[in-house]
Amino acid sequence: MTFSFPKLLLPLLFLGLLPGPAAMAQKKKPAPTTASPADIERRVADLLAQMTLEEKVGQLNQYSGREVTGPANDRKNTLLTSIRNGQVGSMLNVKGVHDTREIQAEALKSRLKIPLLFSLDVIHGYQTTFPIPLAEAASWDLDAIRLGAHVAAREAAASGIHWTFAPMVDVGRDPRWGRVMEGAGEDTYLSAQIARARVLGFQGEKLGGTDAVMACAKHFAAYGAATAGRDYNAVDLSPQQLWETYLPPFKAAADAGVATFMNSFNTLNGIPATSNAYLQRDILKGQWQYPGFVVSDWGSIKELVTWGYAADKADAAKKAVTAGSDMDMEGDVYSQSLAQLVKDGRVKIDLVDDAVRRILRKKFELGLFDDAYRFSDEKREKQVLNDPQNRAAARQMAQKSLVLLKNENATLPLGNQLRKIALIGPIAKSRRDLDGSWTVNADTARITSLYDGLRQRAGKATELLYAKGCTVSGDSRAGFDQAVATAKNADVIVLAVGETWDMTGEAKSRTDIHLPGVQEELFKALKATGKPVVVVVFGGRPLIFDAIAEQADAILYAWWPGSEGGLALADVLYGDYNPAGKLPITFPRNVGQIPIAYNQQYNTGRPLLKPGENRYRSAYIDAPNTPRYAFGYGLSYTAFTYSDLKISRPQLKAGESVQVSFTLTNTGKVAGEEVAQLYLRDPVASLVRPLRELKDFRKISLKPGESKTVTFTIDKDKLAFYNSTLEWVAEPGKFNLMIGSASDDIRLEGAVELQ
Ligand code: GLC
Repeated sequence: MTFSFPKLLLPLLFLGLLPGPAAMAQKKKPAPTTASPADIERRVADLLAQMTLEEKVGQLNQYSGREVTGPANDRKNTLLTSIRNGQVGSMLNVKGVHDTREIQAEALKSRLKIPLLFSLDVIHGYQTTFPIPLAEAASWDLDAIRLGAHVAAREAAASGIHWTFAPMVDVGRDPRWGRVMEGAGEDTYLSAQIARARVLGFQGEKLGGTDAVMACAKHFAAYGAATAGRDYNAVDLSPQQLWETYLPPFKAAADAGVATFMNSFNTLNGIPATSNAYLQRDILKGQWQYPGFVVSDWGSIKELVTWGYAADKADAAKKAVTAGSDMDMEGDVYSQSLAQLVKDGRVKIDLVDDAVRRILRKKFELGLFDDAYRFSDEKREKQVLNDPQNRAAARQMAQKSLVLLKNENATLPLGNQLRKIALIGPIAKSRRDLDGSWTVNADTARITSLYDGLRQRAGKATELLYAKGCTVSGDSRAGFDQAVATAKNADVIVLAVGETWDMTGEAKSRTDIHLPGVQEELFKALKATGKPVVVVVFGGRPLIFDAIAEQADAILYAWWPGSEGGLALADVLYGDYNPAGKLPITFPRNVGQIPIAYNQQYNTGRPLLKPGENRYRSAYIDAPNTPRYAFGYGLSYTAFTYSDLKISRPQLKAGESVQVSFTLTNTGKVAGEEVAQLYLRDPVASLVRPLRELKDFRKISLKPGESKTVTFTIDKDKLAFYNSTLEWVAEPGKFNLMIGSASDDIRLEGAVELQ
């Protein structure tokens, strides 16, 4: 029996606010552990007092478990011996009730029976894959994003996982950097809002429920600013940029109670993040009073030697633990050096005790000392992993993440009367590519391709023709003729192009972000048939596709939409869902324009006021300054007008706020959602400010002809910035306010004055 739960109520259902069919079938909601913080502190202290130095160091080691499950081998035997000797605190990449129970049993043979933490990169879903995080950001729907994290946590926690290495909260402004796919895009405000939503989604209101996992804010910090967009590279930043652009999403995650942080591979102004006491001691554990623990990134402690910051592993261990790195992921540096460093008096035992305390605290909060197997329940695993509501939520999020970039002459939505649709392209029938990178337990058989989705949605009367046309990479045009012949037979062409799932992600920096291979040539050949061409682009980052952008009749940016992507795409292509996605990252015309994030644009002393004017302007002689598609851009099948701007008062003093309201109207024929964006600019300040900065947004749903009043509140905090002495100040004077449908589509303008 398939149960179609009212879609709008899905979020309430998952967050346990409404009983649904699965809930009825499910035992009552797994109760978080009841231990009080004081009780946990006492138990941590008692346990710490019993631990030897070797056992303490043991808690600071994390190893990957790929070799630990499965047939016996040397690596497995070595690891199991270490686990039994209490020399391992956590394992990653061990998943599933069976394997986690098996390995946990080994840990409980140790002298103090300290359970392991099982961790995994559950970045955008565990078995049910959601759109990649950058795609979810395009939804601007914080409830849906939180729900997605909650569903991922439910599935992972039902499979023995205690801890996910997510959310990645690095602001990503450079599309050459492959890891932009894992974050929430180029804007700090949007990234901070999404960081909070994801932490709450993964962890719930309080750790300890077996439908939630520990989250991990990563990569601390400023990893997205890697020089030249090249992964693992150095980062040089002004203090203002660090505090204003890169730290706020981490602070939002910390304020939301994120259980752990992960540091990053990059240096910050010459000091590797993993041994950067300014970041981890002064800011995170000092100013922010962060109570959780910091795990290094994979081998990043060992890499202090490679960077040329540590003389050897012992020096690396000393520098990392002193700087606040609590757990060593796959570095084997702490395990080999830390105990001796303490014995030699080169590292204070207090530093080790603090790290161990932070880790044990989380194990108590998860209830693992009461029942080390409480997350490894076969029955729950089977029930949760096959809950149809998980896929319904993934399909909803995929619908919300799609961005309509172009729709000439209302080419979309496809009409039910269409007799023949030609689905062409190398990704048309692909399933794996729709899942994108960073999928850890995906079941490819469960993924619906665009072909599957269209086949299911198109009526019996519609014939769905297919031709691959070309491969994603490579220069063979051998398939063009057949593709063109197929297209000539159809009423409309749907062309599915983009990147394969492994072309964006970690260690996938690119100097050229054009659509790979001969896909654009295939497009031109199809366009030459004179048939309307709808292009669906799949990818993990902004891509460049000039011919398509200029000549296609319609363009839908699908990102990597996850396991329900094919169904969601059909929902949008047929208009069953009216697209409302908005770009969370700027799409450049060419790589030469980078950095081109919208909030990296300044007036300069010689602004280019109109193309082609006197050349002594801040401009290129070979390209426009403007991007192909701007931050915040995305179309709908309907239209919206913005009117009646009202500002509650023209001035405000410190401590006061101003209400800015306007009327949003759906002037089209179908219901739709609009993301109205509020931008501010400080035109005169002690440091020159960007032309515009996103300070708030609202996603509003409107029926045809319906109007709603939308209100933003502006207070001093929205006017503030870090000045030359790093004080967070709002300076008196006028502030321009802009309300629009995109960062380059401002519909209403006004001003307020701070006195
Ligand atoms: C990787 C990534 C990090 C991930 C970790 C464990 O190198 O940088 O994001 O969580 O290793 O897989």
